[in-house]
Amino acid sequence: MTSPEYICYHDLLLPPEAHSLESLEFAQNFSVNDTDVFAVTYPKSGTVWMQEILPLVLNGGDLTPIQTIPNWDRVPWLEEKRLAVVVDQLTSPRAMVTHFPYHLMPPSFLKSKAKVINVLRNPKDVMVSSYYFHQMAAFLEDPGTYDEFMEKFLTGKVMFGKWTDHVKSWRQPALGDRIMYITYEDMVQDLPAALRRISDFLGCNLNDETIQKIAEHCSLKSMKGNNMSNFSLVPKQYMDATKSPFLRKGVPGDWKNHFTSEQLARFTSVIRKEMEGESFSLPWSLD
Ligand code: A3P
Repeated sequence: MTSPEYICYHDLLLPPEAHSLESLEFAQNFSVNDTDVFAVTYPKSGTVWMQEILPLVLNGGDLTPIQTIPNWDRVPWLEEKRLAVVVDQLTSPRAMVTHFPYHLMPPSFLKSKAKVINVLRNPKDVMVSSYYFHQMAAFLEDPGTYDEFMEKFLTGKVMFGKWTDHVKSWRQPALGDRIMYITYEDMVQDLPAALRRISDFLGCNLNDETIQKIAEHCSLKSMKGNNMSNFSLVPKQYMDATKSPFLRKGVPGDWKNHFTSEQLARFTSVIRKEMEGESFSLPWSLD
């Protein structure tokens, strides 16, 4: 399969396998309910993990959704083609994921009380994860060398644009307590504590036993063994797990195995510059 030209949507590059002008229009016209929950992520920051977590938290630990519905239909992407297909099957409260920056959210979202969980991941690990993803996903451009990919990543010539633009866009005082920020690293370090925060934010009131049960089912090991979540249902011509599994390492700090000191210096200086003057600071040291 040769990788097709990306769609350019409001200056963002999107792979046409999952996105189309129709799906983007569908997203713009989507009618958001007050009870909807959106996990907002820059790609490779823990999206599929949230597709496992949200149904379990919202349904008191009931395993049926994660055992019977593929992740992309269970918690669909707002911007992808599948949403129009499965939207009528979503039960309330509906959970969705999106890689959209804030300003591309549908007007109905802005007027709603829908909640947002923004998962942030150290951009160096995001880039490493993305590099491997580009190798295994035939619908993405060949990443080229590591140096070439880093330049594309830092200049936003990758799907969904610059990491810094995405992160900045979601710092919206207008969202008030409708938005919760959590890091991928916090989730890895103490998943039950992260689940407790998510559950409290969503008003789910789960007991410790249920939190523990959810944590077990959302571990990387459990998800690797779940055919509804490990992308084994996707034909090899689209995603080739022999090149790199989608659920790859699942650890913070893998960038240390990939960056040279020159690459680190370049990466850090670009991200620092992009973050200059922002009123919030990143939760990781960039060095
Ligand atoms: P790595 O490539 O570093 O392993 P996304 O779903 O946004 O595309 O993010 C994919 C990344 O999240 C991959 O990172 C994947 O392994 C990691 N991930 C998914 N589920 C996870 C889990 N249960 N625990 C830890 N990491 C997880």
